[in-house]
Amino acid sequence: MKDIVLFGSIAKEILEHPVFSESKGFIQHGRISVYEHSLDVAKLSFSMGEFFKIADKESLVRGALLHDFFLYDWHKPEKMWSPHGWTHPVVAAENGRKYFNISDKEASIIRTHMWPYTLLHPPQYREGWIVCIADKICSALETLCRWRRSAV
Ligand SMILES: [Fe+2]
Ligand SMILES: [Fe+2]
Repeated sequence: MKDIVLFGSIAKEILEHPVFSESKGFIQHGRISVYEHSLDVAKLSFSMGEFFKIADKESLVRGALLHDFFLYDWHKPEKMWSPHGWTHPVVAAENGRKYFNISDKEASIIRTHMWPYTLLHPPQYREGWIVCIADKICSALETLCRWRRSAV
């Protein structure tokens, strides 16, 4: 119960922000919106942070919520053929600075979440490693669920 209250108190500002809410209109994987995906990654990161005794829960949750804060539909043809995989962490960090005044550590968590895809930019903090791994787990489950739905 205490954990849910702590998560909510950290996440509230971002989750209730009108610009972050725009991510409800963009699909990430299958039928999952970027908003839902980001919330799932933040919840899993928070749980992993509890397990690994991460003290800086604020950076962990904020970095996780904003890791895909790129605000466009990456499924559109013009984006499908762009280097979205490499560039969206930079765009998300810029948006994070613009709308939420994120710290350098939070920007790092966002910019390194795609590693090893962004080979030369591995996570610099324990929180960054957690978000990087949580994102892979959530993305795999979302993609798998899409495959299962289409197979039925
Ligand atoms: Fe991403
Ligand atoms: Fe993601």
